[in-house]
Amino acid sequence: MKILVTGALGQIGSELTAALKKIYGENNVVTSDMKEENRPEFLPYEKLDVLDKSTLAAVVKKHDIKVIYHLAAILSAAGEKNPNLCWDVNMTGLHNVLEVARELGVKQIVCPSSIAVFGPETPRLNTPQETVILPKTMYGLTKAAGELLCDYYVAKFGLDVRGIRYPGLISYKTLPGGGTTDYAVEIFYEAIKKKLYTCFLKAETTLPMMYMPDAIRGTIQLAETDFSKLKNHSNFNFAGISFSCAELADEIKKHIPDFKINYAPDFRQKIADSWPASIDDSQARAQWGWKVEYDLEKMTADMIKNLCRKLS
Ligand SMILES: NC(=O)c1ccc[n+]([C@@H]2O[C@H](COP(=O)([O-])OP(=O)(O)OC[C@H]3O[C@@H](n4cnc5c(N)ncnc54)[C@H](O)[C@@H]3O)[C@@H](O)[C@H]2O)c1
Repeated sequence: MKILVTGALGQIGSELTAALKKIYGENNVVTSDMKEENRPEFLPYEKLDVLDKSTLAAVVKKHDIKVIYHLAAILSAAGEKNPNLCWDVNMTGLHNVLEVARELGVKQIVCPSSIAVFGPETPRLNTPQETVILPKTMYGLTKAAGELLCDYYVAKFGLDVRGIRYPGLISYKTLPGGGTTDYAVEIFYEAIKKKLYTCFLKAETTLPMMYMPDAIRGTIQLAETDFSKLKNHSNFNFAGISFSCAELADEIKKHIPDFKINYAPDFRQKIADSWPASIDDSQARAQWGWKVEYDLEKMTADMIKNLCRKLS
């Protein structure tokens, strides 16, 4: 079963690819991205812009691809800076992937969504999966429309498409690519390097987050679940840990006692204020057995241990 990963050089792709290769075999996972850097680590590699449908189709044919993890996207903060590009990549890119899959007999598409589908009208605490979906960012609206488009391909063409609404993801291998929750990664780098971090969100801002090992494990778990067991497909709520900026800073101080944090909220505060503080993921738990492993304490200790090693 050959797998293609789009956007594979990003924060999630770089770790998901390694995990997929371990499970399905080195040569059965084809990585692709429009970037060239990091290429040697990720062979077989195809330079692929998901807006280029004919090259996408050629790559799928060349490698006889049966599963696509479609990760190429423009994230929330980057999307507010360039909404047209965000629309093109997140909507046309996704449509191209779904169409190529349908035309060439790809068996499964895994396509991430995001907590950005929610908006200020959504209940902020323990946000249900089925609720008010009125996003206010271009990123959020492409993710909400993307979920609907994916579910349309399930219903209309019988394509197996599935996806998780990721919360903010925390990892040490690859830097995040321009999201509103990026502070929760930057803070670790700055705490270790300078013992000082200026946070672009307010101290009390609480957002749903998850440590990358949990996100990778959950993603593969969803992909491997028998399709007939799923009542939902592209819109699974997926909860990890919820904490405020100040709570994360306090946890880091347990390891780096002289760490200091300042707050200088910017345009990302408005985006964060429109998102949930915590997520109800009972459907993921009931339908495919999801269970989070890392809490704030365990995640912080592991991040600091691994980043110190990486930065030394
Ligand atoms: N990281 C998070 O915290 C988070 C949270 C919620 C949802 N998600 C979703 O997960 C998926 C992956 O996110 P990520 O964090 O790895 O993002 P990222 O920004 O780190 O990586 C995205 C990758 O896509 C590539 N890309 C951009 N435009 C492209 C194009 N036209 N063709 C091909 N490649 C292109 C970029 O070069 C980059 O390597 C996205 O759908 C994102 O919306 C991520």
